[in-house]
Amino acid sequence: MSKKVLIALAWPYVNGNLHVGHLGGYLIPADICARYNRLAGNKVLMVSGSDCHGTPITLEADKRGVTPADIVNEYHARCNELFFDVLGLSYDLYTRTDTSHHAQVTQEMFLGLLKNGYITTQTSQQYYDPTSNKFLPDRYVVGKCSFCGFNDSRSDQCDNCGKLHTSDTLLEPKSNLTGAQVSLKDTEHYFIDWPKLQDKIAKFVNESNNNNVWRHWVFQETVGWLNEGLLPRAITRDIDWGVPIPVDQIPEDLKIDNLENKRFYVWFDAVIGYLSASKLWAKDVANDPNAWKEFWAQDSEVKHYYFMGKDNLPFHTLFWPGQLIGFDDSLHLPDFPCINHFVNFNNAQLSKSRGNIVDSRQMVADFGNDATRFYLTLIGPETRDANFTWEDFAEKVNGILVANVGNFINRVLSLGTGFDVANFNLTDLDPKVVSSINEAFDSAHSFLEKCEYRNYLNTVLELSTVGNHYLDACELWKLKDEPKEFSKHLLNSLAISYAVATLLEPVTFEATAKFYAHVNIEKPSVWPVSDVANTLAALALHSDLSNKPTPLFNKVELPSK
Ligand code: MF3
Ligand code: ZN
Repeated sequence: MSKKVLIALAWPYVNGNLHVGHLGGYLIPADICARYNRLAGNKVLMVSGSDCHGTPITLEADKRGVTPADIVNEYHARCNELFFDVLGLSYDLYTRTDTSHHAQVTQEMFLGLLKNGYITTQTSQQYYDPTSNKFLPDRYVVGKCSFCGFNDSRSDQCDNCGKLHTSDTLLEPKSNLTGAQVSLKDTEHYFIDWPKLQDKIAKFVNESNNNNVWRHWVFQETVGWLNEGLLPRAITRDIDWGVPIPVDQIPEDLKIDNLENKRFYVWFDAVIGYLSASKLWAKDVANDPNAWKEFWAQDSEVKHYYFMGKDNLPFHTLFWPGQLIGFDDSLHLPDFPCINHFVNFNNAQLSKSRGNIVDSRQMVADFGNDATRFYLTLIGPETRDANFTWEDFAEKVNGILVANVGNFINRVLSLGTGFDVANFNLTDLDPKVVSSINEAFDSAHSFLEKCEYRNYLNTVLELSTVGNHYLDACELWKLKDEPKEFSKHLLNSLAISYAVATLLEPVTFEATAKFYAHVNIEKPSVWPVSDVANTLAALALHSDLSNKPTPLFNKVELPSK
């Protein structure tokens, strides 16, 4: 029975170009999940968008002397180009958080939480710049560190000695924009009453991880937060770039001062993007404003996967589910948080400022999508940080993708060139080949369901190795004068090629398309059926083998140093 699958990807801040950490950490895994589920006949909705708010954006704007809108417009356009034109990611909608639609959905959720009693107000002290008459976010205040004497310490933490600051330990605080002296001033904000939601969130976490489906460390870290006890967190800020507070719709007795000059905190609105994007997709893409509901119903035939890096963890395993529970308990809660560690480069964190970067666009331009997706999946940071190096990339692509998979399929298609498929006899199919193929599909299927993409890929590689061994053992190239034997072994090799090419589609979709175009067969839908081997072997009988193949994958040549 077909399921409805929501594939929700973290919303990247649009303050710069995305590097391969984004690709390997969540973009490719989510795209594999989406492609696989579509192949399995499920109804997929894959959504995300640009995270347009927050200090990452405003800091970049201030640094460049332009507006935050300028920054997000520039990088949202680049993201679109990268995702669709370069990477061919299969989003159903990629939107952004600075739309009026998103603001409306955010405001609705806030008002719902308020009505349901999960919002409190609290006064705290914040740095205030009297010359610009503005409260300043922590990242905008610097001062002298009383621990080590460092003159240019950030207000939250000293970069020199690493100590955390309170207002007492940061001396002579000033604005790093204007240099003006700043002082602390009272300000009132809305808070989510997390202690009040804690039990419901804990219940969600335990139910969602029923049967231990979450990655172990993801569950551990989430439980760690719960054991510490959730604290109220402010969801508004004294800033002018963000989703506005719906002042007119807040009951008088719940209004706080100065609401016009406040905006929602970026992490409150960004996660709401999953819901707002689903609604926007319904309206603009599906042309049915209610279409989002079938993806958000509390129905066991609906599954929600979330893809992100580990720095996003608590926002998706605790706070987003909590926002949903507090807002409307009839909405579908996350099923599987597919959270990855980081991709490092040459054993150090990828960092633009330190120049330790691999640009995604450049990598795909140089080596193509298939090689990029293959490598980043093979080293996927599912259980620990991955280490990307160019040498390792060349080694794995040349030594595995080209030498194992590409070479196998190319040998089969070359040896079979000119063969008249009318001579194939399906009864020649070797039971051992049948079970290798069926077992590979079974185990790939179960790994794909669990989002264990490294294991899935290794399963496919093993089948390709089986194929190479089969060819080596039967020495197909020596059988030109024994038509019966030749036909039998070509049929079996071809069946394995079909299986490998089909299994690889969620990762190397370009090569799979190329394979099917070469044999001139329409791609079959095999994922939900059992005994895939016989279905695929039957296709061999209709293959067009008249043309010599060209390699499915190209060798990587690194520029010599
Ligand atoms: N913009 C955040 C980051 O890059 C991720 C936001 S995910 C969302 O770390 F769900 F909140 F949108
Ligand atoms: Zn210090």
